[in-house]
Amino acid sequence: MKHVIANWKMHLTIRESLALGRAVMLAGKGKSVFPNVVLCPSFPALADVHKLISKSRVRLGAQDVFWQDTGAFTGEVSPRQLKDAGCTHVIIGHSERRSILGVTDEMVNKKLLSALGAGLIPIVCVGESKSDRAAGKAKAVVERQINAALQTVKLKPRDLILFAYEPVWAIGTGVAATPADAVDMHAHIRVVAASLLNGSKAKQLALLYGGSVDEKNAYAFLREGEVDGVLVGGASVKWRSFEGILKAVMEVTE
Ligand code: PGA
Repeated sequence: MKHVIANWKMHLTIRESLALGRAVMLAGKGKSVFPNVVLCPSFPALADVHKLISKSRVRLGAQDVFWQDTGAFTGEVSPRQLKDAGCTHVIIGHSERRSILGVTDEMVNKKLLSALGAGLIPIVCVGESKSDRAAGKAKAVVERQINAALQTVKLKPRDLILFAYEPVWAIGTGVAATPADAVDMHAHIRVVAASLLNGSKAKQLALLYGGSVDEKNAYAFLREGEVDGVLVGGASVKWRSFEGILKAVMEVTE
């Protein structure tokens, strides 16, 4: 089953989150095949969206997490609190948090370890900048990020990690990578991650593409065997676009 992660970023109020969540649930109603859809609202909307979707197949994710479970960490939200709010997934190391909020590779590792420890499914974002790609360093940069993220990570048999390959130059720009670029990088990520996670099964890793995915290009990514799903930002808060992406994933799955 392919994954479709809706990263609503800081776009919606609670009421708007509920309206969009309702539309997604309706789209899945009565469908025999439906992808693993994970809605990632802002923190204030998590509990309400959870109430809305709790009896459906749609899942809930947060957009970030801290690495301690409780304590004096003003402004942070712990894995335990995310579980309590109904989350199954959490996005870690999104490029906006890396570049604007100073999240480092080392912090991504701590967040990943604590998310796994709490039984959350981490969605770890990696990706090179435009200048990295121009300098021919795209694979080396992504490899460094994965290496750092997976330090001392040991998967238990039921754990799952999703990696989202999100080239920074493709996020929110309307210029997506090509499916061929995504496939090429995914193959690289699979090799690097598998060697660091030795002993874990291939099916414990899923690789998503993110960066200007919309209703027009989603099918081309999703039909690739190397692409286990998509992480959608801007197009996930526009219902018509997101509906088109859900249609594309169902076409591929049927
Ligand atoms: P975008 O964002 O789809 O708007 O490019 C993707 C993301 O930031 O996760």
